[in-house]
Amino acid sequence: MSEQTLYERLGGAAGIAAITEDIWSNHTSNPLVKNRYINSDAENVKRLVREMFGAGTGGPETYSGQDMLTAHTGMNINDQEFNAVIDDVMKALGSNNVGEKEHNEVLAILWSMKNEIVGV
Ligand code: HEM
Repeated sequence: MSEQTLYERLGGAAGIAAITEDIWSNHTSNPLVKNRYINSDAENVKRLVREMFGAGTGGPETYSGQDMLTAHTGMNINDQEFNAVIDDVMKALGSNNVGEKEHNEVLAILWSMKNEIVGV
């Protein structure tokens, strides 16, 4: 039996699109981070998040945005904000019925990017 990719287990493009909508609404209602996104073009950020999720989990998408260090340099993001963003993503996985194993896999991927995002 061949194991499905994480992309497939997240529900493919449609599943990731739904997860991304929930991540965005969680971020923009989370008092710990919502002010960070006040000037954002929501549709553009969501497109980049969908691309990154797809490309990073075995999907056919190509990520067309900036690398994580470049994107977050100068923002002075702290640990509390990083944890809040991760919580928002985990919540979005939960509200889309993603399993515990997949939660852990996504968590590990996000955690691996921490040094390019926090304190840069
Ligand atoms: C592992 C965690 C994170 C990932 C995977 C991530 C991913 C991304 C991506 C893909 C972009 C778009 C890059 C581009 O414009 O080319 C972005 C931009 C941004 N991120 Fe993050 N991010 C993370 C954590 C954070 C945290 C903790 C904050 C602060 C609370 C944050 C705030 C922002 C802001 C303000 C932008 C700019 C949005 C805009 O262009 O309007 N990010 N991030």
